Amino acid sequence: MNVSQQILEIKGLCVNYGGIQALQNIDLTINQGEVITLIGANGAGKSTTLKAISRLINYRSGNIYYNGRDISRYPAYKMVQLGIAHSPEGRKILSRQTVLDNLVLGAYIRSDAAIKADIELQFKTFPRLAERRHQLAGTLSGGEQQMLAISRALMSKPQLLLLDEPSLGLAPTIVRDIFAIIQKLRETGITILLVEQNANLALQIADRGYVLEAGLITLKGKAKDLLNDERVKKAYLG
Ligand SMILES: Nc1ncnc2c1ncn2[C@@H]1O[C@H](COP(=O)(O)OP(=O)(O)OP(=O)(O)O)[C@@H](O)[C@H]1O
Ligand SMILES: [Mg+2]
Repeated sequence: MNVSQQILEIKGLCVNYGGIQALQNIDLTINQGEVITLIGANGAGKSTTLKAISRLINYRSGNIYYNGRDISRYPAYKMVQLGIAHSPEGRKILSRQTVLDNLVLGAYIRSDAAIKADIELQFKTFPRLAERRHQLAGTLSGGEQQMLAISRALMSKPQLLLLDEPSLGLAPTIVRDIFAIIQKLRETGITILLVEQNANLALQIADRGYVLEAGLITLKGKAKDLLNDERVKKAYLG
């Protein structure tokens, strides 16, 4: 695979919430097929970065390029059409709809004939969802809801998947299952931007990483190097 092709480039991104500067001049690049992780403490600006990319929030200044195209002024709905899918923090599944309905909704931008087959493919990847296809999503366990959120994002057939805290609040065995799925996804060639509090696991699975502190990128590099970096060890790998 050609890993040198840039799929996403963020240049000088600044986001404000009222008077608070949440992101200050962020630069970040993602190459085709890479898994990039963004690590940082609570409130560092990780979710804000993902929301800016998928355009769930507006940004004050900066540019975002996707496959070389400046998408900074595009509306949110365009992002999914372009191939950017966001599995948000807190999952945001439709709890009064069934598992199946959530997956169908994930494919809302598509009109091709392969949607049914792709749902079955999702059920192969996530067997726990297959058994529960007619269950209301709100009654799923936390781990199952997380799987549904990822699976729903995949139904739009994204080129770039934004994953916000997939392991949040889950028991260690489920966290392992989720990471095994992310590992499998990367083998399919999909590009992933992974936000995680579990820096150790995230750096083990990622190619490169960025460290975000109070809205600033303070460190970046190969995931292996970050795992061995004394500053990262002290602050995030405890
Ligand atoms: N809608 C909002 N209005 C005002 N401030 C916000 C809003 N969303 C986020 N913030 C603030 O921006 C900062 C960054 O928030 P963000 O959610 O990006 O952090 P995070 O790194 O994802 O944290 P966590 O690990 O807790 O999820 C925080 O100080 C937060 O309080
Ligand atoms: Mg967050």
